[in-house]
Amino acid sequence: MGGEETKGVADAIDVPHQTEEMGSAEAVRSMGGNTLVKVVIGEKVKEAVPTKEEKCDTQVEPQPQEGVAQIEKEDNDQRFGSQPTVTLNSGRKIPLLGTGTASFPIPPIEDLKNAILDAMEVGYRHFDSAALYQSEEGLGVAIAEALEKGLIKSRDELFITTKLWCNNACPERVLPAIRESLRKLKLEYVDLYLIHFPVRLKEGILDTTCEKDDILPLDMKSTWEAMEEVHKLGLAKSIGVSNFTCKKLTDLLAHAKIPPAVNQVEMHPVWQQKKLRDFCSDKGIHVSAYSPLGAKEWGFDVVLGNALINDIAHAKGKSVAQIALRWGFEQGVSLIPKSFNKGRLKQNFAILDWQLTEEELQKIGTIPQKRIATMPEFIFPDGMFKSPEEFWDGEM
Ligand SMILES: NC(=O)c1ccc[n+]([C@@H]2O[C@H](COP(=O)([O-])OP(=O)(O)OC[C@H]3O[C@@H](n4cnc5c(N)ncnc54)[C@H](OP(=O)(O)O)[C@@H]3O)[C@@H](O)[C@H]2O)c1
Repeated sequence: MGGEETKGVADAIDVPHQTEEMGSAEAVRSMGGNTLVKVVIGEKVKEAVPTKEEKCDTQVEPQPQEGVAQIEKEDNDQRFGSQPTVTLNSGRKIPLLGTGTASFPIPPIEDLKNAILDAMEVGYRHFDSAALYQSEEGLGVAIAEALEKGLIKSRDELFITTKLWCNNACPERVLPAIRESLRKLKLEYVDLYLIHFPVRLKEGILDTTCEKDDILPLDMKSTWEAMEEVHKLGLAKSIGVSNFTCKKLTDLLAHAKIPPAVNQVEMHPVWQQKKLRDFCSDKGIHVSAYSPLGAKEWGFDVVLGNALINDIAHAKGKSVAQIALRWGFEQGVSLIPKSFNKGRLKQNFAILDWQLTEEELQKIGTIPQKRIATMPEFIFPDGMFKSPEEFWDGEM
């Protein structure tokens, strides 16, 4: 979309802390015809009220425009301070800049707690955890200490996500699983509860180390009904999925009474997920980007080592991580980079007061695409998923 077309549509999004460096008061961005992100300075944004038909983060006022992510500054709801948020189809807000808690080997609770308190001091309010990561307890201790220290005034200032591990992906185990997560988190509710993978594993399988026979058929309909029950009981303000393809989302939407609010998936400049993001945008499902730095935690260097992103970072005086994160931010997704280092936490948070140029975005759009998390752990030549292509429904 060219500059001319930006006129008259810049009243929907308000990103805090804009500076002169932004260059213009309004900008509309397009990545290969996909999600647009509009940026406007100094205007208030009307509260978006989701309707059944029209999901919130694709709403644009006054006239809806397809594929436009609505980034709002909270005017009447200061839960997340000045952070940019989008409204999910559940009507709840999600801060776009979050942080992850997965690390291996599993860190001591004290280390995790300190990293989370550091993140809160930097300004993060959105934390991604999971039963799999064994990070719920550390996060719970950190939240309790943050409240005690006055770092946050109330638990409502936080957006906390956790996930149902695959060993509990059957209807009768969902409610006990979230109750156990809430016990560890010392919370009455989570903001977002996700089905971690579209996979069911035998009860005793607590991580991804499994044999062929440990993988059981997943009854998505009844498992999702149990997720809906979790929401109705108020134990999760929003419910969603993770690692779902367009095909699996289509299957789920065919029988869901409550549509998933979020699909948390791998996304970064080297795996841009254009098709999935377009699909989710159409269906009103917000995309949250995991491994937004290219899963460096797990030894991958495809994003931080990418020559083109390094060149852009060098020319712009930003870090490579910042370029990757700003790119994701400009696509309208939420981001959950993990760092247990306060300096890098600060760096990853400092992506709001500058932007990528059209040329830089176009260059990033040319990067050859490659999924990192192919999940070989679940693939067996004579098992339920015989190849990564089968596991990912050909969306490779
Ligand atoms: N739903 C899922 O299936 C799924 C899968 C994977 C991850 N996740 C979630 O997404 C989160 C993030 O994903 P991820 O951990 O795989 O990968 P990532 O966020 O792409 O990368 C994290 C790694 O990058 C390093 N790092 C952070 N900031 C940096 C910077 N500014 N410069 C250089 N290095 C930096 C971190 O090290 P330091 O800590 O030393 O800074 C860590 O090793 C996880 O923690 C988890 O919550 C979800």
